[in-house]
Amino acid sequence: PRKIIIDTDPGQDDAVAILLALASPEEIEVIGITAVAGNVPLPLTHKNARIICELAGKTDIPVYAGCDRPLAHDLVTAEHVHGKTGLDGPDLPDPQMHLTDGHAVDYIIDTLRHEPSGTITLCPIGPLTNIATAFQKAPDIIDKVQEIILMGGAYFEVGNITPAAEFNIYVDPEAADIVFKSGVPIVVMPLDVTHKALVTKQRNDAFRNIGTPVGIAVAKMTEFFERFDKEKYGSEGAPLHDPCVTAYLIKPELFKGRHVNVEIETVSDLTRGMTVADWWDVTDRPANALFIGDVDADGFFALLTERLARL
Ligand code: BDR
Ligand code: CA
Repeated sequence: PRKIIIDTDPGQDDAVAILLALASPEEIEVIGITAVAGNVPLPLTHKNARIICELAGKTDIPVYAGCDRPLAHDLVTAEHVHGKTGLDGPDLPDPQMHLTDGHAVDYIIDTLRHEPSGTITLCPIGPLTNIATAFQKAPDIIDKVQEIILMGGAYFEVGNITPAAEFNIYVDPEAADIVFKSGVPIVVMPLDVTHKALVTKQRNDAFRNIGTPVGIAVAKMTEFFERFDKEKYGSEGAPLHDPCVTAYLIKPELFKGRHVNVEIETVSDLTRGMTVADWWDVTDRPANALFIGDVDADGFFALLTERLARL
């Protein structure tokens, strides 16, 4: 299995991404979860990460608390999407599991220094503050990262927090800029693909019909998410953004994209956090990311349902 660190700000869709990874030990070994401030403030994201590990019955996964604010700006949160707790929808108990001692950034640095080079994949599904801080603090680890598979950005689907920017990149564009310039191979799951991974009623029923606490909790989470998105986007079904990252590790053949250059706008007030992707290859800037644009949505939901049923 691929060894991964999930860097996250749960978030209902983060929760599903984590559950999918924990349900797939043949392909994915989650060696640690690092929490970052994003959808909700840090005390809630690290708590939610532990709630999810307990729901999955995987209380041996270390969960670390990371950065509580972006590198250069105030934190922007998304309670309007995820609810006050970040995990609104199901009624899940407070975690018994403790946070692991130490800062998430130091955990990322130490792990990359101690594991063989090229064996650790980073999976950021929130703002990129923890990853960028680790790269700034310990540039020697950058070459050791096998790959970064992240959820963030948009091209044709433009923005979901401003007209130009997707939430994860918008919250910490300076961090995203560091990550996209790092030279690490990057796979990006932008809104272009996640807006095709929509939880229709039928797909949500399939989660609920699993009949387990995990299946029922996931159905309730995606229903909560749906209430937000239906009004706003006029389409049926909540987009399952973050699970695209962990599904890619299991079945990359479900996804299609292009190798392109991606740069992050950090200066303009109007377009801050925009992922400027050279989709049509109109510059000579070298490709630095595989930018995903399409998913076999039925295959994706079949995989999710099958795997969640294992927990
Ligand atoms: C991203 O922002 C968050 O609200 C979601 O968890 C996802 O990571 C989508 O723009
Ligand atoms: Ca997220």
